[in-house]
Amino acid sequence: MTPDHHQERAPVTVAGLGPMGQALADAFLAAGHPTTVWNRTAGRAAALRDRGATEADTIDQAFGAGTIVVICVRDYDAVRDLLDMVQLDWTGRTLVNLTSGAPDQARRLAEWAGARQISYLDGAILTPTPTIATPAARVIYSGSSDAYASARGTLSAISSQPIYLDHNPSAANSYDTALLDIFHTTVHGIVHGFALVTAEGIRGGQFAPFATGIASLLPEMVTRFAAQLDAGSHPGERSTIASSRASIRHIIDTADQHGIDTGALHAALAVIDRATAEGHGGDGLSYLATALGHND
Ligand SMILES: NC(=O)c1ccc[n+]([C@@H]2O[C@H](COP(=O)([O-])OP(=O)(O)OC[C@H]3O[C@@H](n4cnc5c(N)ncnc54)[C@H](OP(=O)(O)O)[C@@H]3O)[C@@H](O)[C@H]2O)c1
Repeated sequence: MTPDHHQERAPVTVAGLGPMGQALADAFLAAGHPTTVWNRTAGRAAALRDRGATEADTIDQAFGAGTIVVICVRDYDAVRDLLDMVQLDWTGRTLVNLTSGAPDQARRLAEWAGARQISYLDGAILTPTPTIATPAARVIYSGSSDAYASARGTLSAISSQPIYLDHNPSAANSYDTALLDIFHTTVHGIVHGFALVTAEGIRGGQFAPFATGIASLLPEMVTRFAAQLDAGSHPGERSTIASSRASIRHIIDTADQHGIDTGALHAALAVIDRATAEGHGGDGLSYLATALGHND
């Protein structure tokens, strides 16, 4: 990379040098952006410095060096801690927050930025650190379309196909939160299934090919449920909520025999019972997304 090449690229600041912040800073450096880094705890920037990053002594110096200022820290409380520390003229800069959080936190941060005329873009990183700057990286953005237009070229260093969802700043966190919901409840299902079979004396490796068979059914189910929810129609011709109730009951009975926790299954059963009480026992399982919202 020649010095001239560096001149063409927008200067970027990365605040937060956990595993993800390090990967982001590396990607900006690799794309030729003059990159300034800062972390609350000193000593995390040595490798980045070796690859050409500038380590700022103060957070004001760090934020002042970038026209695109990227924050990627643990949570939104940490983001606010950082922003409260900064005394900066934000004119000509765009703040891009790639910290994971809840939709409401993104809304409130966008309001905070709006009250200060700060150009603000919210984003969520959907894939792990090794994907950053590779075609596998998935990063979604929402909020001001002007902020996105300012930052898009620079952000393509971390994901060559950035996805802008909506002008509503909370959209990226809404997607991210729901995807994490699917991930974590699925992980619970996987480990629960393993707990059951191993309690029955079956080795994990014997069971795994059957478990992966379940996973391969999910993409079609997700697409079908989406269409049914959007249409407000939940036909029970493939399987019904009533039938699901019977399955969950025998899983609970088996888990109880082995002393395995049944908290998540009882939670699922409660939603099924509510849907059944509302007269939807003969509906398809996609109706349960609606029944979940009747928890009052
Ligand atoms: N790692 C991944 O693969 C991945 C994937 C998708 C999304 N994300 C998201 O990316 C964000 C960063 O994740 P990460 O993996 O880099 O590690 P992390 O452990 O979530 O965050 C570590 C960073 O947060 C900083 N931090 C924590 N509390 C702070 C505070 N009160 N004030 C200032 N800085 C604070 C840490 O600074 P110190 O060093 O001073 O403690 C460090 O820079 C998270 O929101 C995470 O959910 C990560």
